[in-house]
This record gives sequence, C-alpha cells and structure tokens, in this order.
Amino acid sequence: MADPVSQFATRIAYGARQLPRVAWYVGHGMVMRRLSQAVRERAGASTRPRAHTRAPVPDRRRLYADMAVLFRQDLANVEAGIYPLPADHDGTLPLVLNRSRLFFEDLPDVHRRRENRQFRQVMTEDTRRKRPDYYLQNFHFQSGGWLTEDSAQRYDTQVEVLFNGSANATRRQALLPLHEVFAGRDQRRLRLLDVGCGTGRFLDAFKQAWPRLPALGVDLSEAYVAEAKRHLRRWCWINVMVANGEALPVKDESQDAVTSMFMFHELPPKVRRVVFHEFARVLKSGGRALSAELSRALLQELPQGGLPQHRRRLRPRSYPRRERFRLQSDGFRQAMTAMRARRLNTAAPCP
Ligand SMILES: C[S@@+](CC[C@H](N)C(=O)[O-])C[C@H]1O[C@@H](n2cnc3c(N)ncnc32)[C@H](O)[C@@H]1O
Repeated sequence: MADPVSQFATRIAYGARQLPRVAWYVGHGMVMRRLSQAVRERAGASTRPRAHTRAPVPDRRRLYADMAVLFRQDLANVEAGIYPLPADHDGTLPLVLNRSRLFFEDLPDVHRRRENRQFRQVMTEDTRRKRPDYYLQNFHFQSGGWLTEDSAQRYDTQVEVLFNGSANATRRQALLPLHEVFAGRDQRRLRLLDVGCGTGRFLDAFKQAWPRLPALGVDLSEAYVAEAKRHLRRWCWINVMVANGEALPVKDESQDAVTSMFMFHELPPKVRRVVFHEFARVLKSGGRALSAELSRALLQELPQGGLPQHRRRLRPRSYPRRERFRLQSDGFRQAMTAMRARRLNTAAPCP
C-alpha cells in the first residue's frame, strides 16, 4: 500500500493527464453535434430513415457515469501496480491541433456519405483484388475506409471523440486480465499478438506495462501499420506487419496471449469464426485470448447514428449463440465480464 503522499501525487498526476483529454474530446463531440444540427437545419428534413433500436438507449448522464467508473478502475489498476501511470502519447501540441483540423475538415464528407448511404466508396476494381469485400467499407462513413494515410491520421481523434476521450482507458482494461496470465513470469520469454492493431494504441499501453515482452501487431491496412510503426518507435521488442487475421503469420501454439481491440464487430460472422480458429491455433495451452468491443450501449451512442446496415447486423447478435458454442468447443470460454462500463468482452481458455 502506497503512503498517502505518493497516493495523492499519483491521483493528481492521473487527473492532470486524463481530465484535459476528456474535456478536449468531449468538446470535439459537442462542436460536431452543433455543426451537424446546423447543417440539418439548413438542408431541411433528411430523407434518410432514422436509425432505430428496440434496446434501451442510455442517456448522456448514464454514459458519463459509466466513464467515471472506467476511469476509477483505470486509476485503481495504476495504484495496484498493474500498469504505471499511463501516458497517452497523443503527440505534440501542433500534431494534436493538426489532427483536430483533419477531423473537422472531414465532417462534411462524412455527412454527405451518411445522407447518401454511401459506404462502399473504397471498393474499386483495384482494391477488390487486394482485400476481402467485407473490409472494403467506409466504416462509420469515414473517408478512405482503412486504406488511406489520411484515414490513419484521423482515426485516433475519431475514436476518442466517439468514446469521449476514454478509448485508451478502455483499451487499458485488457491489461488487467493479461496481468493474471503474465504476473511473476519472465516477460522476455512470453509472446503477445495483437490482431487488427490499427494505429498501435493498445500495443503502446501494453508496452508501458511490459516493455521487454516481445509483441507483434498485425493489421490488414498498410496505412494503419505505417502509422502504428511510427507511433511505436519508442519501444523495443515490437514488430508490426500487414497480415490478415484469417491467416495469422505465426506458428501453432506460439503465443501466450492474443488480443483484439474493436475489430470483431466489423467482421462478418463467418469470418469471425475463422479468426477465432486462428486464435485457437496460435495460442499456447494456458494462453489467453482477449477481445474488447463496443458495448451495445456505446454503439447506440455513436455520434450521428453509426452505420445502419452495420448496426442491424451487430446489435442483436454481437456474438451469436452458435458462435459462442463453437468457441467453447474450440477450447475457449467466452466471459462477458462484469466491467461496469460494459465495454470489455473477454474470451479466456477453459480451465
Ligand atoms: C476499429 S479498428 C480497431 C483498431 C485498433 N485495434 C484500436 O484499438 O483502435 C479495426 C481494425 O481492424 C483491422 N482489420 C479489419 N479486418 C481485419 C482482418 N481481417 N485482419 C486484420 N486486420 C483487420 C482494420 O484494418 C482496422 O485497423
């Protein structure tokens, strides 16, 4: 147990890092909603059908209460020594401002795409030959899908705005179950694989806790892998490469943990099963698979409605029963754990 002075100092330092961050991204969300309201008023009634759900939709107060729980847990993890005081590594002020500019400049295009229901703009003769069809979407109507450098530059701002500045804190919650597997072991002898690593934000948090544990990130996007390499260059014993989660470029039973943050909801059910099988193939016995996903509640809170065709598919059967059964038969037990923030689903090996 830390002495009261250092505990106080940790809490102040934690608040000083996280509160301005939350304010920054909540502010972006507020401005974004104002802008889209103004555009809607100017354009008159929209012809697009409103997104509809029968599930209860949490209000903003509930969302902020869940965020408070999440941040309290994050701080508790720090105080328990699970990971050090987190650094979000958002970059220098000019970089942060530039990303903010990219985010706002893109909003009119996102709006147009949403109104015209265009989410296949990245599917061309050329891209079709290189990537699976399900991958070639403008997810959440974003520009460039996963394929462009601009998209990779905008992504972290978009996600943090969506999460009101809590995306990194959400990712960090996966470090807690990893701690259960790794604690007391020689980190240099362990291996972690992050599938759909995007711009590398989870790997960054992971390396802060286990700097000498060799880690590999894979993602299907060349642009996102390039951004992840740039973001992660402060770390050793880390590699990031372009690869498909359906055919992981590692040997059978070679990994102590396989993680995946916010990827599965984008995969069609058939593909999810293939990826789960790959997880099972590459995990060592006793290893652990972890997947953090958007909660239903958060999904319904997606600013400006989310991607409707995508929502319909995801909402009722995030992990269909059949799939859960397959998971069990493959040696996984899926535990929809009791994170109050309800953002983390974990799949752990059967005892
Ligand atoms: C919503 S992003 C999540 C990125 C990152 N994990 C994070 O925490 O922000 C989904 C990522 O999954 C990647 N992805 C989607 N399908 C994939 C597949 N079959 N194999 C590898 N990566 C994939 C995309 O390129 C994208 O970077």
